[in-house]
Amino acid sequence: MSASTEKSPPSTVDSAIKVFDTTLRDGEQSPGASLTGDEKLEIARQLRRLKVDIIEAGFPAASPGDLEAVQRIAEEVGGPGGPVIAGLARAHRGDIDQAWQAVRAAERPRIHTFLATSELHMARKLQMTPAQVVERVAEMVAYARSLCDDVEFSPEDASRSEPEFLIEVLAKAIEAGATTLNIPDTVGYGMPADYGALMARLIAETPGGGDVTWSVHCHDDLGMATANTLAGLAAGARQAEVTINGIGERAGNTSLEEVVMALATRRDSWGLGCGIDPAQLVRSSRLVESFTGLKVPANKAIVGANAFAHEAGIHQDGMLKDRRTYEIMTPADVGWDDTQLVLGKHSGRHAFQVRLRQLGFELQDEELAETFRRFKELADRKKTLTDADLLALLHEQVEGPEEIYRLCDLQVTCGRPGMPTATVRLQSADGEEAVAAEVGTGPVEAAFGAIDRIVAEPCRLLDYFVDSVTPGLDALGGVTVRIAPKGEPDSTFSGFGVDADVVVASTQAYLAAVNRMLGQRGLAVGSGVGNPAVGEIPLASPTGGGASEVPGGSQA
Ligand code: KIV
Ligand code: ZN
Repeated sequence: MSASTEKSPPSTVDSAIKVFDTTLRDGEQSPGASLTGDEKLEIARQLRRLKVDIIEAGFPAASPGDLEAVQRIAEEVGGPGGPVIAGLARAHRGDIDQAWQAVRAAERPRIHTFLATSELHMARKLQMTPAQVVERVAEMVAYARSLCDDVEFSPEDASRSEPEFLIEVLAKAIEAGATTLNIPDTVGYGMPADYGALMARLIAETPGGGDVTWSVHCHDDLGMATANTLAGLAAGARQAEVTINGIGERAGNTSLEEVVMALATRRDSWGLGCGIDPAQLVRSSRLVESFTGLKVPANKAIVGANAFAHEAGIHQDGMLKDRRTYEIMTPADVGWDDTQLVLGKHSGRHAFQVRLRQLGFELQDEELAETFRRFKELADRKKTLTDADLLALLHEQVEGPEEIYRLCDLQVTCGRPGMPTATVRLQSADGEEAVAAEVGTGPVEAAFGAIDRIVAEPCRLLDYFVDSVTPGLDALGGVTVRIAPKGEPDSTFSGFGVDADVVVASTQAYLAAVNRMLGQRGLAVGSGVGNPAVGEIPLASPTGGGASEVPGGSQA
């Protein structure tokens, strides 16, 4: 490997590698990351700006919500000039029908179907014989192809499957009409040399292999996802399945930004390029971070806060003399500089709207007016608002579940000694107001408890994250919460809130999650609305008497 000091400019011309983004499908399978339909649509719009070739928009058979989200993306992002829109389907007719229903409105729809091929998965999970698997693949790929001209097939757990059997299955898939064959390293077991060799062998030995696109899909359980992806591409694959920030099942998927910048920065080594616009990388990363609540580690390559920070004196000295001494790409290449623009309380509505557009948000009149009102409210308390602040604000706005309850007032008292107490006033969608007060181990628990008293729908708090959106004492606090209805730990609902005051942000986040829970469960308003004023609702004990249970009883 030669230590080149000249940076090869990122290519936007050579599109040999197709970038298949699965942030909205495999990425959304990350523990704790569940996105609303509106959030998915916003991310899909940003993926189009980033110029990905294919968006895997979801798994339509997984839930009616997912089907609807994929449909909206197909209609609104997959129009003329847009990316291919793919929907995932198990190798079942029902799944394939739903995937087709979801993607068919796109100009270039794709059905992506999969079935496991490793002995372990076939015997233990599917309880199917290898012969049954071959037959099912042939039948379902042919069925998908009868609906859609663009069909991708994935033999799940390919890297732990017998290569001879894989070749047999893949040949059948090609015969049945598959146009892309994807080779998943489902459990992140592969090593670069083995995975690359497997890919090369499959391409060379599968009958008809020269007529299809081969694809890589890697997971990061051993931290090898990017290395394995590059090895697969070097072996002849021409599609890379990746996610923004590398989010995904367990340790995650291959990170889009790492592969794109490895190809661009070391073009001399790989001789491959793609059509991604690298200047959109940081913005895409921030949007996905904000909407999923999955924080990007500071030392994450390309998009981490420290990716271009130079701390050591000797490095700083080198940088001042010549940036190339310690930088193999510039922050501007990947869109860092652009994120530092600020707006303040004197910024007008037009400047605000232009910046939102640059961030990829096209808000309609009413939404724009509401977001601008919130922006002014925050700008009054925080001198300047950066893109990170705006994204947090937009997150709160676009996330917006149906407002079954709206927070009108919140007042807390806390400190030591004392009894943290919160009083909230909520207004329901039908205009009724209710006030309740509660005590807690802290003001946040007290506020959550007061909401529970009004809503009267028992739930359990699963996660509570508070994060400063930007550095500095006047930073906005962004809060993400996840709750589950009591007795139903598997149905979870998340909410996000942002404010200069973390107790307010926390209360907004909790109420958003509660609204989402009520909305999805078809519940209108709880019995508490219309409850008399505070004095008539007895306070619970400081260890929590509201409907929610705070894990460990501790709160911020
Ligand atoms: O990791 C995997 O095997 C998958 C397939 C469904 C493509 O995500
Ligand atoms: Zn996967």
